[in-house]
Amino acid sequence: PALVVAVDGPSGSGKSSVSRAVARRFGLRYLDTGAMYRALTWWCLDQAVDLADQGAVVRAMDAMPLVMGTDPAAPSVFVGAVDVGEPIRQTRVSERVSAVATNLDVRARMRDLQRRLIGEAEAGVVAEGRDITTVVAPDADVRVLLTATEQARLERRTRELHGHAEQDAVESTRDQVVRRDRDDSTVSQFVTAADGVHTIDSSAMGFEEVVDALSALVTR
Ligand code: ADP
Ligand code: CDP
Repeated sequence: PALVVAVDGPSGSGKSSVSRAVARRFGLRYLDTGAMYRALTWWCLDQAVDLADQGAVVRAMDAMPLVMGTDPAAPSVFVGAVDVGEPIRQTRVSERVSAVATNLDVRARMRDLQRRLIGEAEAGVVAEGRDITTVVAPDADVRVLLTATEQARLERRTRELHGHAEQDAVESTRDQVVRRDRDDSTVSQFVTAADGVHTIDSSAMGFEEVVDALSALVTR
């Protein structure tokens, strides 16, 4: 059976960037499950679906022609013919994605879809997202919880969005990072790793160092 690596952790811990790099190193596919929740949020906004109407959001998901591209060199997200890679990262989506992700019927459908995508990856896969090690792929070959202090995560996200981490920029990012983790806390908490899940605390580690640490768990 194909190798499955599962990576979860809070916002800005490095899940996406590190998972992509490890997938490339080992010739595995890469599945960004957060992008799937983001795509559904984008789709609901596009279709003027009321995010507070849980049933309507579920129906929107059933009607969404989502296509996930899992090449780690060029991951892509399409809804029908529309490349949504860029718009799903916009603030209007980031601000609303937790409302979609806390819908339990949506989560059940996402879990099934994600398991199918993982199963289809004959070359093996690094799958990344907040409930991957616990709910979606608890039987993955390698399971890792990637953590970092709130300060480190904030600074990373700020650098990503602003190109620097001066204090005023950090403050403007704080709401996004901290509030989203709080809004997500009914579905994901990262206080302790589940049984059998390795923890990598990346607070004081450089990017390549984290990639090496995760790779070491893969080759073990
Ligand atoms: P997540 O998917 O967990 O939200 P990302 O992979 O998007 O996290 O990483 C957030 C930002 O931090 C990105 O700009 C990424 O390049 C950067 N980054 C990732 N790991 C590290 C690290 N160990 N040190 C510094 N910056 C990092
Ligand atoms: O990179 P970051 O952790 O900030 O976010 P993301 O991976 O792009 O995920 C966006 C949002 O989708 C999260 O804030 C969660 O609300 C939701 N999500 C989830 O509930 N379960 C997952 N497996 C992945 C994402």
